[in-house]
Amino acid sequence: MDRYAVIGYPARHSLSPRIHAAFAQAAGIELAYEAIDVAPAVFAERVKRLHDEGFLGLNVTLPHKQAAVALAEALSDRARQAGAVNTLIRTVEGWRADNTDGAGLLRDLQDNLRVSPAHKRTVILGAGGAARGILGPLLAAGPARTVVSNRSLKSPALLAGDFAELGTVEPLTHPELEGSQFDLVINATSAGHQGQAPEVPGSIFAPGALAYDLNYGPAARPFLGWAVRAGAALACDGLGMLVEQAAESFFLWRGQRPETAALRRALRAH
Ligand code: ATR
Repeated sequence: MDRYAVIGYPARHSLSPRIHAAFAQAAGIELAYEAIDVAPAVFAERVKRLHDEGFLGLNVTLPHKQAAVALAEALSDRARQAGAVNTLIRTVEGWRADNTDGAGLLRDLQDNLRVSPAHKRTVILGAGGAARGILGPLLAAGPARTVVSNRSLKSPALLAGDFAELGTVEPLTHPELEGSQFDLVINATSAGHQGQAPEVPGSIFAPGALAYDLNYGPAARPFLGWAVRAGAALACDGLGMLVEQAAESFFLWRGQRPETAALRRALRAH
């Protein structure tokens, strides 16, 4: 049987096995997809062993997304830009690495929510790995303005420099957002995991603005609840992005693009 896995620490809570099982079933393909806990200390060795054991593809989740960059035989442009990898594709020599997070976000925005970032004033809150993962595809969509905002200026300024060849990214602190309005406000901070929303001026939402949290489930609630109270017209968590980035990985492995609508509905209902 064709074997795939998601590796993380922990990986047990991942929805990926369920998502890929649903994709495979819908496509009439038999495959095995498991969740494997891999501690950081043994990450490189374990990834090599999974290749030796014949795995055809791996998803990489926290905390290994950055570490996976170093052990790839080949790296896609989007993985290099993001400095992070979420998908490994088997080659004869080793693993080819890619990052489907940004593509997953764009597909959820454009195809599912019918909100294209093109010509939109866009702000990303947070300047860590999650922000880096989405910035390349977002800039490629041609927003009118792209701001990356963090509690302090250092990491968004670094990020703006790293992505300069792809487009103009304005670094601002959260208080410096006062006076600006945005059509698309993306939460890429990890504040929700501590039950918090980033402290951002409530005036940033332009009429009709979409608030989008890259997190899903309880971790998205603080930001989305705050956004609705502050005036966002639409608030959406990252469950659609999760399914879409998985669909993009499935496509890289199997050359077949899965249908996502039914699964998104089922996960949402769950
Ligand atoms: P990830 O890979 O998920 O992006 P990360 O690299 O640790 O994780 O980055 C987390 C981001 O969330 C950072 O931008 C962080 O801001 P700081 O650089 O100021 O730490 C941001 N963040 C975390 N907790 C936050 C909070 N309570 N309010 C606002 N921003 C927060």
